[in-house]
Amino acid sequence: MARLRVAVLISGRGSNLQSLLDACERPDFPAEIALVISNRADAGGLQRAERAGVPRVVIDHRAYPDRETFDAAIDRALRDADIALVCLAGFMRLLTKAFVTTWQGRLINIHPSLLPSFKGMHTHAQALEAGVKIHGCTVHFVTPDLDAGPILAQAAVPVCPDDTEAVLAARVLTAEHRLYPQALKRLAEKRARLEGDRVILDDDFNADQILLNPAD
Ligand code: GRF
Repeated sequence: MARLRVAVLISGRGSNLQSLLDACERPDFPAEIALVISNRADAGGLQRAERAGVPRVVIDHRAYPDRETFDAAIDRALRDADIALVCLAGFMRLLTKAFVTTWQGRLINIHPSLLPSFKGMHTHAQALEAGVKIHGCTVHFVTPDLDAGPILAQAAVPVCPDDTEAVLAARVLTAEHRLYPQALKRLAEKRARLEGDRVILDDDFNADQILLNPAD
C-alpha cells in the first residue's frame, strides 16, 4: 500500500517531529514524512529531519510582507512535494483562514491540553491554576478557530500534588510522543474520518488505547 505523504511544520526543538520520524521508520507504518517545513532557520527539529534524511525547507515568515503571502509560500511547498496530510508540531504561527480552509480535513495539530480545556498558550500553567487532577494532550483537525477543531485522539496524564509547570509539561510531552504517531496511523489507515465537526472512529475502538495514563 502506498504510504501517506506527510509534511510536518515546526518552529522549534521538534521532539514531536522526532516521534513521527521514528514511527515512520517502521516498514509497516502507513505514512512517510516527505517534507519538514520550519519558519525558523535555527529550529532544532531541522537537524532531526536532516539526520533522518528527510527533505526540509525553511520558510521564514519575516521574509514575507503579511500572513497571506507567507501561507501561500507554505502552500506552494506542500503542493510541490505532493503532500496529502499536514501535521503541525510546535508550529508557532497562526495560519490564515484561506490556508486552513484549503487544507481543512488534511491538517492536524497536537495541543498540550485536553481540549476544549486550556486553549492557547501556557496550558500547563493553566491546568495547575485550575487545579485539575487529569491533564493531557489532544490531536485535532485544524479549523479557523484556535484549538477548536474536531478531536481525533487524546491522552490523559495525572496531575501530581507537587507538580511544577516543567514537571507537568514533561509528563504531557511523553504522552504526546505516543499519541501523535498513533493518531497519524489511524488516519493513514482510514480508521478515522471527519464527518462534519466530528471525527468518527472505526469500531476497533479500544478504551485502553485512548486513555493512555489513567491515575490509580
Ligand atoms: C508541544 O508541546 C506541542 O504540543 C505544542 O508545542 C510543543 C512542541 O514541542 N504544540 P516539540 O517542538 O515537538 O518538542
